[in-house]
Amino acid sequence: MNYILINEQTKEFHLTNGNISYIFNVLKNGSLGQLYFGKAIKHRTDFSHFQRTDIPTAASCHYFQDDPAFSLETIRQEYPVYGKGDFRDAAIELETNEGRIGNGFIYKSYEISQGKPNLKGLPATYAKENEASSITITLIDEKVQAELQLTYTIFHDFSVITRSVALRNSGSNPIYIKKLMSSSIDLPDAADLRMIHLAGTWSRERHLEKRDLVPGIHSVASIRGASSHHHNPFIALMRKDATEHDNEVYGFNFVYSSNFLGQVEVDHYDTARVMMGIHPHQFKWQLEGEDSFQTPEVVMVYSENGLNGMSQTFHNLYKNQLIRDPWKTEDRPILINNWEATYFDFNEEKLVNIAKSASELGIELFVLDDGWFGKRNDDTSSLGDWFENEEKLPDGLTSLSEKINKLGMEFGLWFEPEMVSPNSLLFETHPDWIIGRPQEHLTFGRNQLVLDFSREEVVEYLYEKMATIIKRTNLSYIKWDMNRNITDAFSNALSYEKQGEFFHRYILGVYTLYDKLTSEFPTVLFESCAGGGGRFDPGMLYYAPQAWTSDDTDAVERLKIQYGTSIVYPIYSMGSHVSAAPNHQTLRSTSIETRANTAYFGTFGYELNPLELSDEDRNVIKVQVEFYKTHRNLVRDGNFYRLQSPFEQNETAWMIVSKDKKEALVGYYKVLATPTTKKHQVLTLKGLDESISYTINGTEDIYYGDELMYRGLPLSVEFNGANGQHAERGGDYQSIVYYLKG
Ligand code: DGJ
Repeated sequence: MNYILINEQTKEFHLTNGNISYIFNVLKNGSLGQLYFGKAIKHRTDFSHFQRTDIPTAASCHYFQDDPAFSLETIRQEYPVYGKGDFRDAAIELETNEGRIGNGFIYKSYEISQGKPNLKGLPATYAKENEASSITITLIDEKVQAELQLTYTIFHDFSVITRSVALRNSGSNPIYIKKLMSSSIDLPDAADLRMIHLAGTWSRERHLEKRDLVPGIHSVASIRGASSHHHNPFIALMRKDATEHDNEVYGFNFVYSSNFLGQVEVDHYDTARVMMGIHPHQFKWQLEGEDSFQTPEVVMVYSENGLNGMSQTFHNLYKNQLIRDPWKTEDRPILINNWEATYFDFNEEKLVNIAKSASELGIELFVLDDGWFGKRNDDTSSLGDWFENEEKLPDGLTSLSEKINKLGMEFGLWFEPEMVSPNSLLFETHPDWIIGRPQEHLTFGRNQLVLDFSREEVVEYLYEKMATIIKRTNLSYIKWDMNRNITDAFSNALSYEKQGEFFHRYILGVYTLYDKLTSEFPTVLFESCAGGGGRFDPGMLYYAPQAWTSDDTDAVERLKIQYGTSIVYPIYSMGSHVSAAPNHQTLRSTSIETRANTAYFGTFGYELNPLELSDEDRNVIKVQVEFYKTHRNLVRDGNFYRLQSPFEQNETAWMIVSKDKKEALVGYYKVLATPTTKKHQVLTLKGLDESISYTINGTEDIYYGDELMYRGLPLSVEFNGANGQHAERGGDYQSIVYYLKG
């Protein structure tokens, strides 16, 4: 199949894989027009009638004096500029010493390649030659002497287009990039669309938000130096009548972990301009002659199967074409993390006892969290001093890791590489390594300062420290934390003119360190973390296949957090742990079953002190651990379906179905008990095979896929005040997990 069809006469480019079509063309003035993005359509030699030409108004400015119909104010475009008749936000803004802004880009050529080109120094989806086809369109601005390359990739087996942009200075004078969006697309029918995004804060990340699109700008953004707890670099536009499982949805996700802007501008002619890229706030990149600047990429998904269809495409793409070997297929170990068990208060004996007790429960990996280094006994010191805290670990990490390994467990360690405490040896030695002007007021976050990762020597120093520890402790896992956002953004290593490059250079430094460590130690599993879920983005997922979803481990809060996160990210990338009751973030007590029933739908682990558990709970945990070991491949490889939303009701339900549809795991959760429930107690399932008969929970109960999907799975009997003899569940925070086998 030819995935990129070109009409040379009309200069139209049609990217299609039989499921989606993406069509754009060269406009009369040499810029690019957007013609179509949606369900696949048959190819033809001319699609120009898809462009709307009926609406220039008397007030519109027209590009050509003799053609009032050609107005950029109303033409749908692919990479718009300011100053030529379009008064909406532009995708690019340059500055030259002659005062030019880069609005003269015109089409020059195209080049097709099989597979997908790498983006140097940046995380990105990847593809072999038989998995994707790419086209790069080159536009030039002769006055600015710059070349703009827009690269599009269509994946053969996914309803996905990725886009990124590179700008090359083809002259000898510097060009200053003030804005260079990774993608921009003008979609029609804005009045029929709603915007979906994921918003929150610490401990309440990625809650699902929906808003109507009215004329004006709707945006999500971060200028925190991290993608943030507050807004995820994701936007979807959904038809007004689209649901979880039906009708059209367009999703946009930015493969980047720092300042971003995702924006939908609705104009007065029913067009929605969706733009995504590095946030232009304080951004200014100096491009010398012959230099290039490469933007990160945007992943664009089209779904005709509602929001869930979009999510499954993101999940499958990220599982297969973003997360790298060996972690695509390797089992993720069930871990126990000592953070909520001990906080900073531990010594070797305490840790080994916890690990021993956990190993008896079948847990596979022991993770030592914050507090093992320098003189760290609370959060006021020692970040940067990556050597053992001798008071707590007099025999060192090597001795501890050997003891853990002897228990048959793997050993994992927490780092916060990007940070330094003012009270640390590292700060004493290298006070100039911090971000911020040395003699001026500095703003604190959790008593710590941020290291300047835009500097090679800083990255190199951290690499040496971490690599040495990995080697000498036989480390299997690293939790890479980042507990504060960036303030006082100023690099002492950059000239004043180049400070606008700081934020991007910082994250490139973070990616460099990740790249060096993951290349040298591919079998070490990295879990990214930023005070919980403050950097849960596809950029991080490229290096670290799982992320600590939130510091909030409360099972009820997690329903919303995990449901929201699943809108974009595979559930197997979400670190989800069973913690103690009452919960440390909410003081709510839920049963050990409900805590696990929520955490199973993620990468599973524990965050509690097993020595403080009752025998009964220990026995329950042994069963839970075995259960997850049996089903973790299903959690990793299956298709995830959201069935009932915690944002809409008291009940939440979701399920995961194996690719061959012969197995499924269904989670059902009811937050508050209700008396004599009105609704018929069934759960309508999705994604099963109509003709397969499934047994439920290994019992004799058998149901066909069609009954389960069209009538529903009968839920166990709920206590209603009068049916005590045969009620099987009841009370607040109740939950059930069903295993279906065909
Ligand atoms: C924030 C993380 O999200 C927690 O899990 C824990 O690692 C603490 N930092 C340690 O300081």
